[in-house]
Amino acid sequence: MARTHIVILGPPGSGKGTQASRVAREYGLAHLSTGDMLRDAVARATELGLEAETYMKRGLLVSDEIIFGLINEALDAAKNTGWIMDGFPRNLVQAEMLSKMLGERGETIDYVLDIDVDSELIVRRLSKRRVCPACKAVYNLDTIKTKVEGICDACGGALVKRPDDEEETVRRRLAVYKEQTAPVIDFFRSRGGLVTVDGAGDIEEIFAEIRRVMK
Ligand code: AP5
Repeated sequence: MARTHIVILGPPGSGKGTQASRVAREYGLAHLSTGDMLRDAVARATELGLEAETYMKRGLLVSDEIIFGLINEALDAAKNTGWIMDGFPRNLVQAEMLSKMLGERGETIDYVLDIDVDSELIVRRLSKRRVCPACKAVYNLDTIKTKVEGICDACGGALVKRPDDEEETVRRRLAVYKEQTAPVIDFFRSRGGLVTVDGAGDIEEIFAEIRRVMK
């Protein structure tokens, strides 16, 4: 699986990050999450982070220019390992740009996975999500509990609720997804090779399904 390139799509809270981190571990790939990159920049209060934060807290997409800079650097860093891309592309301009960037690098996408989950289940899941800002581990008060309440099993950091996981913001993110990101699924479908995975089931069953797709 060396240098495999995977794009994982799906609405906010569908489990992209959860599955991408498992796939990255299993196949030795870099996990390129634009959301994590942006949250890092916000935490460091960089100029980029401060600009991005104004959009993220409202549940809107940040500008394509900011994202292209992050993706270019991430593709350079992951050129020897391969990658799974989580959270990008998120609109048709980004999808076209990814094709162009990969073309210039002589790289191709091997798998496009689309995780499909009903909106009401997503709202419930995200109200219970807790994340570790230090190591990026993701938990859930219902489904992935920590051994000690509020403390990350992996690094001992204090867990937080993401500011964009309040219900009103989640619903806006879902609307933005429907309007701007859903067309990206048709973009990849029309090029062949897109596989839709039911994301409503158990995390390990979904991962097993992804592994079957990648055989
Ligand atoms: P980003 O961080 O990418 O957020 P998102 O796409 O909205 O996705 P999430 O991280 O919320 O969810 P996920 O699908 O990864 O689900 P997870 O695995 O955590 O982006 C955040 C913001 O940054 C955007 O709104 C935007 O402003 C900006 N941004 C990012 N990329 C951008 C781009 N390319 N262009 C412009 N702006 C960009 O799972 C969710 C919860 O459910 C967790 O608690 C998990 O434990 C649980 N769970 C997962 N799977 C299951 C399961 N099968 N059963 C039960 N529980 C489950």
